Amino acid sequence: MKLASLLSFLTLACVVPATVAQKSHNHQADQVNWSAHEWQAPTATDSRGPCPGLNTLANHGFLPRNGKNITVDMVMDAIHDGFNFDKGTLILRVAAKLGLLTTDEIDNYMLEDLALHGTLEHDASLSRSDIFPDGSGDNLHFNETVFSTLANSNPGSDVYNITSAAATLDQRLALDMIEHPDLTNTIKEFFVRAIESSFYLSAMGDPIKGVAKKELVQIFFREERLPIAEGWVRSPVLITNEILGNLTGRIQELSNWTSGPGCPWIRLQPEGDVSIV
Ligand code: HEM
Ligand SMILES: *[C@@H]1O[C@H](CO)[C@@H](O)[C@H](O)[C@H]1NC(C)=O
Ligand SMILES: *[C@@H]1O[C@H](CO)[C@@H](O)[C@H](O)[C@H]1NC(C)=O
Ligand SMILES: *[C@@H]1O[C@H](CO)[C@@H](O)[C@H](O)[C@H]1NC(C)=O
Ligand SMILES: *[C@@H]1O[C@H](CO)[C@@H](O)[C@H](O)[C@H]1NC(C)=O
Ligand SMILES: *[C@@H]1O[C@H](CO)[C@@H](O)[C@H](O)[C@H]1NC(C)=O
Ligand SMILES: *[C@@H]1O[C@H](CO)[C@@H](O)[C@H](O)[C@H]1NC(C)=O
Ligand SMILES: [Mg+2]
Repeated sequence: MKLASLLSFLTLACVVPATVAQKSHNHQADQVNWSAHEWQAPTATDSRGPCPGLNTLANHGFLPRNGKNITVDMVMDAIHDGFNFDKGTLILRVAAKLGLLTTDEIDNYMLEDLALHGTLEHDASLSRSDIFPDGSGDNLHFNETVFSTLANSNPGSDVYNITSAAATLDQRLALDMIEHPDLTNTIKEFFVRAIESSFYLSAMGDPIKGVAKKELVQIFFREERLPIAEGWVRSPVLITNEILGNLTGRIQELSNWTSGPGCPWIRLQPEGDVSIV
């Protein structure tokens, strides 16, 4: 029941016009010094996680390059400076804060902490495999086999869009259910998976249309690099609650998703049993 109210909060968050944030929007802050943010591959001791967006920001020094001791403020600044997401976007604040539940640290996390299954990490991802019931499986590292569903979607076109994003979500779920019949697939996962699709379309492409060049999206996932050399530019449009909510809603409408069994749950800490909300 509590999750139902959390979800209605999330839904509300997506339709609230971001007028307050826009009023305080400072165009000076949009002057990114790109030569101070060149891509560098992570070293063996750097922490990277299951989120291609945050990994990319660390690879470009918008987050600490070691991927460690990351605070909510650092995440909000990085997603704004690197991608032009609005810092007032409530769903992004919620995600950045939920990251804290993946560690026993009070106010910071490492990117790999985010792979804790059931807090933010979920089954049927676009670019990572699952943790299976016997504890095997890798939900952290990029997996080309998994990614091939998205990579090969929208055949005959140079772009991904909301139609192909919805079809990709459905196809990934169907494929994953063959390998992982007990996977978790509630309304919570459907919402999170759809908003993550809105992230790659908006961060790599046109956030209003929800159209992104395939080449740029593939570099983002495979190399966790901003494809500046290939023509990517940071969205000139501030990516707000309203924009993300609209894209997510349209992707959900175009999907043929149906819920699997069980109630939504969220893991509140690394130790102990799964916590039901
Ligand atoms: C605001 C703080 C954020 C946090 C804490 C966060 C965390 C996560 C986590 C834990 C996952 C793994 C879920 C899974 O696939 O099992 C994920 C997936 C994803 N994130 Fe983030 N993320 C954040 C913001 C962003 C942003 C700004 C982008 C923009 C590009 C982004 C893009 C993605 C994408 C595309 C996926 C799906 C990956 C897949 O399905 O393989 N995220 N994120
Ligand atoms: C941009 O970053 C480079 C590399 O860190 C630095 O040398 C340069 O002074 C910076 N430019 C400005 C205008 O801050
Ligand atoms: C950084 O994170 C590590 C482990 O996550 C922790 O032990 C350390 O105290 C943190 N350092 C600071 C300055 O918060
Ligand atoms: C990649 O994902 C597939 C599909 O889940 C899985 O069968 C395979 O073992 C994964 N590969 C690695 C190296 O984890
Ligand atoms: C997405 O692209 C495909 C292939 O070009 C096209 O058929 C479809 O109508 C597009 N979707 C939207 C919403 O434009
Ligand atoms: C959903 O099902 C309809 C009717 O079978 C089909 O036309 C459509 O392509 C499907 N959409 C996706 C995203 O698979
Ligand atoms: C998205 O925005 C368009 C244009 O304003 C609107 O017609 C449509 O109903 C919106 N869709 C969702 C799911 O919010
Ligand atoms: Mg996953």
